[in-house]
Amino acid sequence: MYSVREVTQDLYWVGADDRRLSLFENIHPIPRGVSYNAYLLLDGSKSVLFDTIDWSACRQLLENMEYLLDGRPLDYLVINHMEPDHGASMEEILLRWPEVKIISTEKAFMLMSQFGFSADKHECIKVKEGDTFTFENHTVTFVAAPMVHWPEAMVTLDVTNGVLFAADAFGSFGSLDGKLFNDEVNFDRDWIDDARRYYTNIVGKYGPHVQLLLKKAAAVLDQIKFICPLHGPVWRSDFGYLIDKYDHWSRYEPEEKGVLIAYASMYGNTESAANALAARLCEKGMTNVAVYDVSSTHVSYLISETFRLSHVVLASVTYNLGIYPVMHNYLMDMKALNLQKRTFAIIENGSWACKSGDLMQQTVEEQLKDMTVLNSRLSMASSLRADRAAELDALADAIIASMQ
Ligand code: FEO
Repeated sequence: MYSVREVTQDLYWVGADDRRLSLFENIHPIPRGVSYNAYLLLDGSKSVLFDTIDWSACRQLLENMEYLLDGRPLDYLVINHMEPDHGASMEEILLRWPEVKIISTEKAFMLMSQFGFSADKHECIKVKEGDTFTFENHTVTFVAAPMVHWPEAMVTLDVTNGVLFAADAFGSFGSLDGKLFNDEVNFDRDWIDDARRYYTNIVGKYGPHVQLLLKKAAAVLDQIKFICPLHGPVWRSDFGYLIDKYDHWSRYEPEEKGVLIAYASMYGNTESAANALAARLCEKGMTNVAVYDVSSTHVSYLISETFRLSHVVLASVTYNLGIYPVMHNYLMDMKALNLQKRTFAIIENGSWACKSGDLMQQTVEEQLKDMTVLNSRLSMASSLRADRAAELDALADAIIASMQ
């Protein structure tokens, strides 16, 4: 059965929800699923498909297209992003509509060839920054968006109806469940955590490139009526909310003053200290506190929360004279994603050779960019006794003082 939504006159969402995939990119859990968005423009006698979808949901895309095309040919396929979660179904599109002309960037055509899609049997129209193309009534302009999130990426602005086909920008994890538009959901309540986790883990490394794209978008913002990403809801209102989030994330500025306490605990003693610190912070008025066990929390959630909050407490046991492996992995993910501009406090634990504090501090200071580590480190030997309460207080005070 087809399942389509009208975006605006002549333009339809023809994508699909995927609730069967457990790991996006085979690494990030997606308990709420994900949508692969593709869009079909019926422009007078011409038809244009903007991107395809993941191979796993290709059949749904085909049913949607066959319903809307109703026997007419597909004239153009615009590929904004060639990553297989969007590009993989193009192979089937090319087979079913052999006359279709493909519009994309030079690098995307190279990737099509690498992935084994037979684009060279079709008319290939290479476009670059600033090029325009008219289908029939609709004229589009192409804007390069390299590294948002792959080097070949571009976004396409339909200047006739103000639709921005935004590729991976402004996307989110989560299946749509029929609700296509941002004003059909409570985004700030139900979607922002998945949108942040999607952005920070998938595109987070490329903040400077996202900033470049935001600047290009700002120049034409008054023309934009719809933002159509390749995942998650289509935006037709409240652009300022979304752009502000992207601006914070891509400048690596925290959204909120608050404390993420990430603990690595083997027998519960480091966990106990983390909980005690959380209680002290709240008692002193800093209630924006989130506590996570790094062993049972997928690192994609930790990264997302670290982008959200201004302060991070790393509380770790010493393990084989090193940092507990999952805590180390969290720090290495911060490095890989270029995370910057956070303030850290450290709680270390070791029963006979306490090393984790020095090693975590060294990692933060030497391998991450533009980070601050507070001096008031709390060191524990096996467990934190009640007579150390004053030190716990001092640590909470130091964290709060650094927020002023
Ligand atoms: Fe959703 Fe970079 O692909």
